[in-house]
Amino acid sequence: MARDHFLETAMPIAFVRTVSESIHNCELTHMDQETIDLDHARSQHATYVDALRLLGCEIQQLPQLDHQPDAVFVEDTAVVVPELAILTNPGAASRRGEVDTVGEALAEFRPVVRLTNDGNLEGGDVLRIENQVHVGCASRTNEAGILELRSHLEPLGYDVITIRHGEALHLKTACTYLGDGVLLLNRNWVDIEDFDELEPLECHPDEPFACNAIRLGDSVLFPEEFIQTRKRIEARGFNVHPVPASELAKAEGGLTCSSIIID
Ligand code: GLY
Repeated sequence: MARDHFLETAMPIAFVRTVSESIHNCELTHMDQETIDLDHARSQHATYVDALRLLGCEIQQLPQLDHQPDAVFVEDTAVVVPELAILTNPGAASRRGEVDTVGEALAEFRPVVRLTNDGNLEGGDVLRIENQVHVGCASRTNEAGILELRSHLEPLGYDVITIRHGEALHLKTACTYLGDGVLLLNRNWVDIEDFDELEPLECHPDEPFACNAIRLGDSVLFPEEFIQTRKRIEARGFNVHPVPASELAKAEGGLTCSSIIID
């Protein structure tokens, strides 16, 4: 596919969006409602964005969407591979209004296609490890959405693998890839046998939500609240860069949710 007219990226670009004023009306699937302090959430989000910058990303701010409660969780709106950006059809109907502005931003860097309304898919359910694309099938992503994603990715040489996961909102709530062949996971929610030849690194049993991390360069961006799991990651030889993530966790959002990072 010709890419002559798309901007080249010298460094990874992280697309992010400010926390919406209406974040208190966010979708909640497995968690009870708690009061979210907007200023605190925005302050923690700003620290997260600073960390992305420090770890080598160029930051692109997406337009603020105060009427879209979950708009900070940009990851769910697109799946991006080097050849293509695929805009999703989020399973949460309230989130579909977030997608257009992401498509406009990504169009400078990739050809953009869009999933139809026939199926549902959210980017938080998509874990790509090189040419293996693992897709969680649960409340936000269904078989029809995965089928359509596969129709775009298989011709480009990607294997799309459906993963059944337990009571986690998204696949990447249950596991993320730390690099160097290591999968950080909660075994109650995901089965390591579904991931060929990866070495499991389990979160601490007292920290079931401690499986959402971002590998950037030589560092692993990780929520500072999960001290026990952090020790396990460091003991395995990774360099952890902790950031506060407790306020958006009340909105059922993890670190990967708050950015789309493209190389
Ligand atoms: N509140 C995060 C989400 O449900 O999509």
